[in-house]
Amino acid sequence: MQSTNIVLSSNSRLPRTEDEIHNGNFVVIDMPSQELINMLQKAVSMELQVSIQYIWQHVRGAGMNSLPVTAELKSIAIDEMKHAEEIAERLDYFGVMATTEPAPITVGKALKEMISLDKKAEADTIAFYKQIIKRATDEGEFTTQRLFMKLLEDEEEHHATFTALLE
Ligand SMILES: [Fe+2]
Ligand SMILES: [Fe+2]
Repeated sequence: MQSTNIVLSSNSRLPRTEDEIHNGNFVVIDMPSQELINMLQKAVSMELQVSIQYIWQHVRGAGMNSLPVTAELKSIAIDEMKHAEEIAERLDYFGVMATTEPAPITVGKALKEMISLDKKAEADTIAFYKQIIKRATDEGEFTTQRLFMKLLEDEEEHHATFTALLE
């Protein structure tokens, strides 16, 4: 029987799962640039940061009328953890393990200070995700492009919520 050689270009990944290795169920995947992979890793760090930051603020936020605000923080923290999961799944598709390191977390003390920090975090995320969308589009990485367009919509909503809470 003739053996089949799979020739991988430098931007392809090797077979990885049991199914791919033993059953030959393997499709060569075009890898995005290392720069885009690094951007996705940074995005995971930012999502981990805010999911921890918001849930700790949910726990620590106190004072008059804090309940609706801390409930909102919990709900957004869960959104952010789901975002981290979705980006990690995209990285996993490329055979890359997502980082477990959050970006620097800033909880703050008074509730108003907390929400100001969060509004800034959302604004930074919005700016960064626009860069990822541009980069993914340039590379023809349309699944990543679509994922970040969806995430961008959520981040804009979070930003609007924090803005409204500060008014
Ligand atoms: Fe997010
Ligand atoms: Fe967000």
